[in-house]
Amino acid sequence: MSPGKAGVLRALLLIAVSIPAAFAADKPGKAAIASAHKLATEAGFEVLAAGGNAFDAAVAVSAALSVVEPQSSGIGGGAFFLIHRASDGKQVMVDARETAPAATDAKQYLDAKGDLDRDKSVNGALAAGIPGEAAALAFVAEHYGKLPLKKSLAPAIRLARKGFAPDTRSLMFLGLRKDVIARDPGATALFLPGGEVPKSGWVLKNPDLAHTLELIADKGHDGFYKGEFAKKLVAGVAKMGGNWNLEDLASYQVREREPIVFPYRGHTIVTAPPPSSGGIALAEMLNILQGYDLAKLDRVARTHLVVEAMRRAYRDRAEYLGDPDFVKMPVAELTSPLYAAGLRASIHPKKATPSDSLPGFMAPVQGTDTTHFSIIDADGNLAAVTQTVNLPYGAAVVVPGTGFLLNNEMDDFALKAGVPNAFGLVGGDANAPKPGRRPLSSMTPSFVIGPERTLVIGTPGGSRIITMVLEGILAWFDGDAPQQLVDNKRFHHQFLPDVISIEKDTFSLDERKALQEMGHMLSEGERPWGFMNAVDWNRKSGEVRGGSDSRGVSGTALVK
Ligand code: GLY
Repeated sequence: MSPGKAGVLRALLLIAVSIPAAFAADKPGKAAIASAHKLATEAGFEVLAAGGNAFDAAVAVSAALSVVEPQSSGIGGGAFFLIHRASDGKQVMVDARETAPAATDAKQYLDAKGDLDRDKSVNGALAAGIPGEAAALAFVAEHYGKLPLKKSLAPAIRLARKGFAPDTRSLMFLGLRKDVIARDPGATALFLPGGEVPKSGWVLKNPDLAHTLELIADKGHDGFYKGEFAKKLVAGVAKMGGNWNLEDLASYQVREREPIVFPYRGHTIVTAPPPSSGGIALAEMLNILQGYDLAKLDRVARTHLVVEAMRRAYRDRAEYLGDPDFVKMPVAELTSPLYAAGLRASIHPKKATPSDSLPGFMAPVQGTDTTHFSIIDADGNLAAVTQTVNLPYGAAVVVPGTGFLLNNEMDDFALKAGVPNAFGLVGGDANAPKPGRRPLSSMTPSFVIGPERTLVIGTPGGSRIITMVLEGILAWFDGDAPQQLVDNKRFHHQFLPDVISIEKDTFSLDERKALQEMGHMLSEGERPWGFMNAVDWNRKSGEVRGGSDSRGVSGTALVK
């Protein structure tokens, strides 16, 4: 189908599922915030109590997570803020993904033999893209919030200055990254007192981060990207072997992107567009699955079909997707119901399709640590925000005096075409590192909006983010409450390797056997994955609910 025809079809479908005007003015009357940390959820409510809306709360939660969950996200990383404004129905994704510095040269990540040097792509300043989160905080506050940035950043500044006790999850990741952190004096001074991973109960005070946040609160975007602070960052990065210049920082801007929007079972799904691969893959999978009555199927038959949808969507994502400012992508085709119908026709109801029998490409897999929070406010404004420094504790380096870790998002590029990245897989030209480009992401902040019910959902988890969001949405349609759907056991397939990854106890022994008899290979991981945070609102009953994944230690969903 031509892009034009697919676009017209999409537009017609959107009109068909738009929400009745009678509901547009409805208000929940209460707010719900679900995030990975109690202190961050409370920061959001503090700002709501001061007269802020969901977007002011999103700024507060985002900044607070940057302080209290430094292994997952931070001012040195990037973010996608998905926004639905109740007053006029405006929906937009603020893309604050990191960009490759102007001096980016893929050869810098190769060793003397021309092989990819994994240490350079994930550890140290060369691994760091130009951060976007500070720009997002300033932009969202200015364009969508009601309060001055100073008010929304106040809780995070207080937390950084007064200190907090990192939870056992933060300390566990600190243990995993200790050897790399120990190489950098700035990161060691902040996270390894006495050169060791601290014991539970240790209080992390970060006056440098408080000062950095104050600069942003006082001067907005320019406080971070221009002037003395930018000079300090560029000099510090250069000293650590990185390659940023002042213009990289001065020219950094968030982008407002039109979300991927498509109908599903009488609801409208609003989700992340490129440079996320998440929304397109989610559309492809749900469009395939629309053709089945999943509720009538037993668990094995249903899992088989969901896995086959995952396999086909992940095949497409790396071949076509990248930064929309640089790469032309067949978005309308990939998200069209007709394309999905063709894919559905290739699925055998009882037999796994070997991935190597499908034409295709391997999907790049992004890092495993990231964080997501979901907000609905009393007026019905929605915010779904996923933010990251990539691997736990990012690139494990801190420019002295700044108080934050640099990201290692450069590893989300396909740094060497055809060569596996940190997670064993490869990507291609569409996601090659180029100056100014944003690396492909899996972050999938999403809304599901129907005539009666609305869901705000997302999760960390690298390439598994997209299938987790898919399973969360399917469970919600089955009737699961937010707490149930974030706690459900998970499975994942991403085309290659051709296995279904599962958590412990995702399936019974009989279910495993039945899936294997269909030709599926199963691989059980040692650790659970994801840290999903979701909220929903039922317009009919007036109920507002939240759920924070029990896999996390400090995750907190509150409704007030
Ligand atoms: N760095 C994780 C992601 O963007 O998918």
